[in-house]
Amino acid sequence: MKRDKCKTHTILHFRVNGGKDGSLIALEQRSSEIPFTIKRVYYIYSVAIGLRRGFHAHKKLKQVLIGMSGSCDVMLDDGKTREIVTLNRPDFGVYLDRPVWREMYNFSKDCVLLVLANDYYLPNDYIRDYKLFLKMGKDGKI
Ligand code: TYD
Repeated sequence: MKRDKCKTHTILHFRVNGGKDGSLIALEQRSSEIPFTIKRVYYIYSVAIGLRRGFHAHKKLKQVLIGMSGSCDVMLDDGKTREIVTLNRPDFGVYLDRPVWREMYNFSKDCVLLVLANDYYLPNDYIRDYKLFLKMGKDGKI
């Protein structure tokens, strides 16, 4: 599986089994595909036009974000670099393997954003204050 390493994330290009019948993507939990044990799957949909979500970073959680349908933008900020990715196809994922501040926006009406995660929902793993996120990064606490 091809990967593109960026400053704040890695793009995982999935292998498509395609033909005139349509397309199929299978994701297996192995280092060359989804590089962590998947403990949780969730999806975000029916987001009102103009709404922005996220506004947090995770201390430890690893995730892969996939735009299953429609489109949305995700802004990723590691405290030094800001990058924007448009999630508009189901054949690639954005792998977040380090603490990054994320905001999702420009949701189309039909957007379904799928997230694979390596751990359960743990509120203590969230950093919801951007200034605190920057400080924790500077102090080497994340
Ligand atoms: P939140 O993480 O704040 O969503 P976003 O970052 O996309 O804005 O979660 C929204 C709500 O859903 C919040 O009440 C917590 C709940 N939630 C769960 O119960 N389990 C989960 O796995 C997630 C991600 C959220």
